[in-house]
Amino acid sequence: MPTEVEVARALADALVAEIAKKRDLVLALPTGRTPLPLYRELVQRHRVRAVSFARVRTFNLDEFRGLPADHPGSFRAFMERHLFAHVDLEKAHLGFLDGEADDAAAECERYEAAIAGAGGIDLAIVGIGGNGHVAFNEPAEKLVSRTHVAKLTRNTRQANAPLFGDDPSAVPTEALTMGIGTVLGARRIWLIAAGAGKAQILARALEGEVGPACPASLLRAHPALTVWADDAAAAQLSRGRSLLHRWFVGR
Ligand code: PGA
Repeated sequence: MPTEVEVARALADALVAEIAKKRDLVLALPTGRTPLPLYRELVQRHRVRAVSFARVRTFNLDEFRGLPADHPGSFRAFMERHLFAHVDLEKAHLGFLDGEADDAAAECERYEAAIAGAGGIDLAIVGIGGNGHVAFNEPAEKLVSRTHVAKLTRNTRQANAPLFGDDPSAVPTEALTMGIGTVLGARRIWLIAAGAGKAQILARALEGEVGPACPASLLRAHPALTVWADDAAAAQLSRGRSLLHRWFVGR
């Protein structure tokens, strides 16, 4: 039965193999609690020279609006703490939405153009929010396809409170985020989920109705989606589980 750490190791192995195949891989990267074991594994592998990120390019999925990049609650600061400061990614290769941009719409357009300029995203690694969100695409009647300004739900602000001294009211009310269409534009998507707290929403996303009420369900439209879940997160899935609880959808 895979634990969170076992899944993170398998993920890191798979990612290192992808980078070995394509040294200038273009990644979309998530923040949150879920990717932390993966980032720890990557830092570890880099320390022992098992992987170099020197030519890899990254685009983070989202950023809070109104925060300077060096604010400790920003996703940029999160990435510095947990990955960027510890590996050999080039600063110029780190794509980030500028939460402080005066013209947020122009910033979103710049981001889409930067992704296109990099040749598109080879591999988008995404988590799933407890409410089914992907990046900051919150459940709604309609979703915005491309990178845009999003209003954050109370749940999401609560979930991000640890970055802001456990005070949900200190969490920004808006964010800049890749759209679900931006994520679906990646050549491959890896959805990662860990812990019992994700079991219900993962089952809904993978086996429930496909639609904007559960943005993660839309990932099932992608021809190369891989779901990486630990045992606890996979507990409510009904269909065939492999040893690592990986599903290859549409292959
Ligand atoms: P989490 O967040 O990894 O902190 O659970 C996932 C998400 O909101 O996408």
